[in-house]
Amino acid sequence: MSEITIDAEVCRKDGLCTLACVRGIFQQQESGATPRIINPETCIGCGHCVAICPHGAMSHSDYPEGTVHSIRPEWTSTYEQALQLMRARRSKREFKDKSVERDTIDKVLEAARFAPSGHNAQGTEFIVVQDRETIHELGRLTAEGLRKMAKPFLSPVGRAMMRLFLGGRKTAIIAGFAPELEYCASLFDSGTDILLHNAPALLLFHADDVGGFALVDANLALQNAALAAETLGLGCFYTGFLLIGSERNKSIGRFLSLPDGHKLLGGLAMGYPRLSFDKWPERKPARVTWM
Ligand SMILES: Cc1cc2nc3c(=O)[nH]c(=O)nc-3n(C[C@H](O)[C@H](O)[C@H](O)COP(=O)(O)O)c2cc1C
Repeated sequence: MSEITIDAEVCRKDGLCTLACVRGIFQQQESGATPRIINPETCIGCGHCVAICPHGAMSHSDYPEGTVHSIRPEWTSTYEQALQLMRARRSKREFKDKSVERDTIDKVLEAARFAPSGHNAQGTEFIVVQDRETIHELGRLTAEGLRKMAKPFLSPVGRAMMRLFLGGRKTAIIAGFAPELEYCASLFDSGTDILLHNAPALLLFHADDVGGFALVDANLALQNAALAAETLGLGCFYTGFLLIGSERNKSIGRFLSLPDGHKLLGGLAMGYPRLSFDKWPERKPARVTWM
């Protein structure tokens, strides 16, 4: 359990912690009083209390000395800068024959770990693959997984069986893209890496998938990573095929030595891009219901 204390001598009784805490752990009985700490066992360790207190009156066992940092206003991006980053990010699949330095990948990971997570679980773990042969083997196992997935949907008998297990709608959807999965697998087998595009590095996201928000958490971390990669001059793309392949080919999890209960939840292939874009294309307008 987290240990939380307020130094009454330092506390200016402004009540900011009572407003910032999502759990309502701080209660100010009357204005001008030092807040009381109620039910600290419900704390999710988000750090809002230590970040909001301007006077340093708050101590929290999850945040020892040196773990709470000042925000530098001069580094805060404008809306236009942030929007341009989001608009200009592209999936990049053509890479220079150049490996990505560990320092640069560390910077990407630094962005990934600051994504929000349900219940502040911070449960996403990362695997960095830089060895070309390992990446190629992951492509091969992915192709195997895609084939396994597509196979039952490619024949009338198989589809009839799958309808019994999955129902008509899901079967029709998977049957719709099964030929593409088979085609991509055969392209890979004949030497064209349409799955991982010979990327020099892979950043994989995994977590204990016991329900909760593990998948969402991993993909929020992934998007942070993708945007950070863009600012560092890297190009990347979401490795959807690898994810689909790993669903049907459990040897991918074993090959990666995923811990028991962990599932591959996201993947980014990355490298230095050969193409650079100086335009961004429009997207569909936001379909919004205002209520
Ligand atoms: C869930 C998901 C899976 C994807 N899987 C792949 C993939 O396996 N291979 C690939 O080259 N691109 C993949 N992409 C990239 C999309 O094709 C791409 O985001 C989309 O075409 C829009 O282009 P943009 O990312 O350049 O804006 C995936 C994207 C997402 C979000």
